Amino acid sequence: MDLFIGFIGAGAMGEAIIQGLLKNQLVKPEQILAYDIRPQRVEKLKGTFNITTAKNREELVGKSDIIIIAVKPQNLDDALRDIKVETNKLVISIAAGVTLNKLSGYLGEVPIVRAMPNTPALIGEGIAVLSPNKLVKEEVLNQALSIFRSIGQVLVLPEEQLNAVTALSGSGPAYIYLIIEALADGGVKQGLARPIALQLAAQTVVGAAKMVQTTKEHPGILKDRVTSPGGTTIAGLSVLEDRGVRGAVIQAVEAAANRAKSLSKE
Ligand SMILES: NC(=O)c1ccc[n+]([C@@H]2O[C@H](COP(=O)([O-])OP(=O)(O)OC[C@H]3O[C@@H](n4cnc5c(N)ncnc54)[C@H](OP(=O)(O)O)[C@@H]3O)[C@@H](O)[C@H]2O)c1
Repeated sequence: MDLFIGFIGAGAMGEAIIQGLLKNQLVKPEQILAYDIRPQRVEKLKGTFNITTAKNREELVGKSDIIIIAVKPQNLDDALRDIKVETNKLVISIAAGVTLNKLSGYLGEVPIVRAMPNTPALIGEGIAVLSPNKLVKEEVLNQALSIFRSIGQVLVLPEEQLNAVTALSGSGPAYIYLIIEALADGGVKQGLARPIALQLAAQTVVGAAKMVQTTKEHPGILKDRVTSPGGTTIAGLSVLEDRGVRGAVIQAVEAAANRAKSLSKE
C-alpha cells in the first residue's frame, strides 16, 4: 500500500497490527507512525520496527492517511478530543464497545471503520470483524481489509452484529483456554505429566479446529466419525452432554453478548 498508517495508542494490539503489516510487507516501516501517551512505548516500537514516532496526536493525524485508534475505551475521550480529520482519510477504531455513532460524535462526518479483533492477532492467527460507516467507499474498505488480513482472517458485518461477535470471537479465546486447561487437568488426573497433558490438549484443539476449517465438514459429522459404537469417545461425550456443556457454551456467548450490549450503552 502506498499510504501512511498512524496509530494513536501503541499497546499490545497496536504492536500486533504493526508487526503484521511489516511481516506481510503491506507497507514499509517509514509509512507507519505511532503516538502513545507513554513515550517509552513508541520509542520501543521505533527501536524494534524502525517506524516513525509522532510528537502528538495532531502531527500523527496530519501525516497519516489511515488513523488507527488503539487505546482502551476508557481513554478514548483523551485520545479523540479536539481531533480534526479530513474527509479523505479513514479512521479505524478497535476500541471494544465504542459505537460508530459515538466515534462520529468525536470526529464528525468522516469515513470510520469499527473493528473487533481478538488476541490471537498477536501471533497472526486472529479473526477480526469490520463494520464501516456509510462514508467508507469500497476501495477504502479494501485497504482496511488488507490491514486486518495481515493479522489473521477478516469479515465485514453490520454493526448490529458486533456484540455477538465480541461475545464469540472476542471473548472466545478465554473460553478455549479454559477448555484446554480442563483437558490438561483431565490428563493429569489420569497420570500424565502436566507439560505432556498441556501439549496434548493444545494441539488437540488446534487440530480439531483445523479439521473443521480444512474439511469444511459440519463439526457434528466430524464428531460422529471419531465416535465408534460402545467406544471411549462416546463414553466421554455422554458425560459432556449429561453435564450440559453444549448449553453452557451457548449461554456463555449469550451472557457475554448481553454484557457487550450494556457496555456499549454506557
Ligand atoms: N487486546 C485484545 O485482545 C483486544 C481485542 C479486541 C479489541 N481490543 C481493543 O484494542 C484496544 C487496545 O487494546 P490493547 O490491549 O492494545 O491496550 P493497551 O495494551 O493498554 O494499549 C493501549 C495504549 O494506548 C495508550 N494510551 C492511553 N491513552 C492514550 C491517549 N490518550 N493517547 C495515546 N495513547 C494512549 C496506553 O497507555 P497507558 O497504558 O498509559 O494507558 C497504552 O500504551 C482497546 O480498546 C481494546 O478494547 C483489544
